[in-house]
Amino acid sequence: MTDRLIAEAGRENTIVINTGDNLFQTGELELEHKKAEVIFKALDRIGIDFVGLGEQEFIFGVPLIGNLTKNSQVHLGCANVKDIRRVSPYLVPYLRLDKGMKQVLISSVIDPQVLKSTHEKIAFTDPVTALKRIKKTISHDIFIVICHADAVSAEKWLTQVSGIDLVILARQPGVSEKKLEINGAIVAFNNDRGQFVSHVDLVPKDGRYAVSGPHNTGLQAKTIAEDRSVAKLIEEYEVWSREYHYAKSKNQHLAKAPPDIENIYVGKDRCMECHEETVVSWAKTAHARALDSLIRKGKEYDPQCLPCHVTGMNDKSHGGGFISLNLTPHMVNVQCEQCHGPGGLHAQDPENVSARLSGKQTCLSCHTKDTDPGFSYQKKQNTGIH
Ligand code: HEC
Ligand code: HEC
Ligand code: HEC
Ligand code: HEC
Repeated sequence: MTDRLIAEAGRENTIVINTGDNLFQTGELELEHKKAEVIFKALDRIGIDFVGLGEQEFIFGVPLIGNLTKNSQVHLGCANVKDIRRVSPYLVPYLRLDKGMKQVLISSVIDPQVLKSTHEKIAFTDPVTALKRIKKTISHDIFIVICHADAVSAEKWLTQVSGIDLVILARQPGVSEKKLEINGAIVAFNNDRGQFVSHVDLVPKDGRYAVSGPHNTGLQAKTIAEDRSVAKLIEEYEVWSREYHYAKSKNQHLAKAPPDIENIYVGKDRCMECHEETVVSWAKTAHARALDSLIRKGKEYDPQCLPCHVTGMNDKSHGGGFISLNLTPHMVNVQCEQCHGPGGLHAQDPENVSARLSGKQTCLSCHTKDTDPGFSYQKKQNTGIH
């Protein structure tokens, strides 16, 4: 997608910007660091010129961000972090590029408030002062600023700094459809979980620039050709991550059910004793093969994928749910109890304890906007749950 946009405008006229917040905290450092490495290598291969560092990167700490630049030539920037240059030549307060005979200055600022509690060790300075200084001391024809702040703070800062041509709001949810302006600067934002690439055209006109856009293009795996070198990075990561999760699953233990909880997951074989017909017809549905889909992708140990493809995982208030393939092989796939709730007590005493009846809400916990965009309860029920 980026290649196409660059081809249309010409590399010498294009600047490719990523607005940061590319990393996620999972509580597993080794995994986070590996992912971060892959993501920043991929940004390099995509041909990103500048990343405006966001909260998610700073949570990892400046030295680690510096480390990421070892394998990547992408400039990572933030204007209001103290001494950012000391760590790596690729960590910068701003970047100036010669594009189409113009000097384009790009910088990024972050709201110190956002990071106050998480990062005592990093010193942030006033964003307005930082932008004013850069604007004054670095000669340029076009000035682009990425703002990691909510719309209210961003507007407050921008009204104090004039002469900015384009502002990208990195924390404003959604994707900007219309042309907006603050203090003479065109405002754009694109924060819909990386699902869009947006571009803004600046065309010289009467000594100034006519702006067209933002134009937003949805990224759909099916319609966009794969970039081989990025795909290869991801494949290598997948192999690594499978090994990582597999090794981890070996260290897991069967959890004891909390002592005051009597109701536990028991698995479909118990239900079979009295609901044979239902179990047999369930076995023909996609839910009964949900783990196979993960195995096909080499993801059967991945805790990011498993919860929707197995039964009772992460349900800490009842015992017996899925833990790992090795420990709980009888809890794979989307079984009865995933929809009807743990059935231990009901199976023991069906006369007195009824099983929960499932409804639409249960389906929506897995058939989400991401995993199944066109989900319709009526239609899917007809397909057959059992
Ligand atoms: C020992 C036999 C027995 C076992 C084992 C058993 N059930 Fe039942 N189940 C029944 C009976 C009998 C009824 C009907 C009770 C009623 O109509 O009130 C029933 C009803 C249900 C209902 C309908 C509830 C309602 O309110 O209409 C669901 C759902 C259900 N069972 C799920 C399960 C699941 C899931 C399992 C396995 C974890 C399971 N059952 C295991 C005997 C059993
Ligand atoms: C939030 C719940 C959820 C999570 C998390 C989840 N899935 Fe799924 N997955 C679904 C649902 C729902 C479907 C069925 C959607 C459909 O077929 O319309 C599905 C279907 C699939 C399929 C079969 C359909 C196909 O396109 O071939 C595969 C393969 C799959 N998921 C792999 C994964 C992998 C790999 C992960 C982890 C990266 C994952 N899933 C994480 C809910 C989830
Ligand atoms: C994907 C979710 C889902 C799974 C998996 C599932 N059910 Fe159901 N089940 C439902 C829904 C939805 C209903 C209908 C509830 C309603 O109409 O309010 C239902 C109804 C029932 C009923 C009562 C009415 C009937 O159709 O007989 C029983 C008994 C039952 N399920 C047992 C089971 C058993 C046993 C299994 C495992 C083999 C199972 N269910 C798996 C969602 C599920
Ligand atoms: C625990 C997560 C989970 C829940 C809850 C769940 N599903 Fe699914 N569903 C899946 C997964 C995963 C698949 C894909 C299985 C595969 O092919 O790997 C799927 C596939 C399906 C399919 C077949 C594929 C398709 O899109 O036609 C239907 C139909 C379906 N689900 C209906 C329902 C309905 C209706 C409910 C609620 C009563 C429900 N599901 C609840 C995870 C879930």
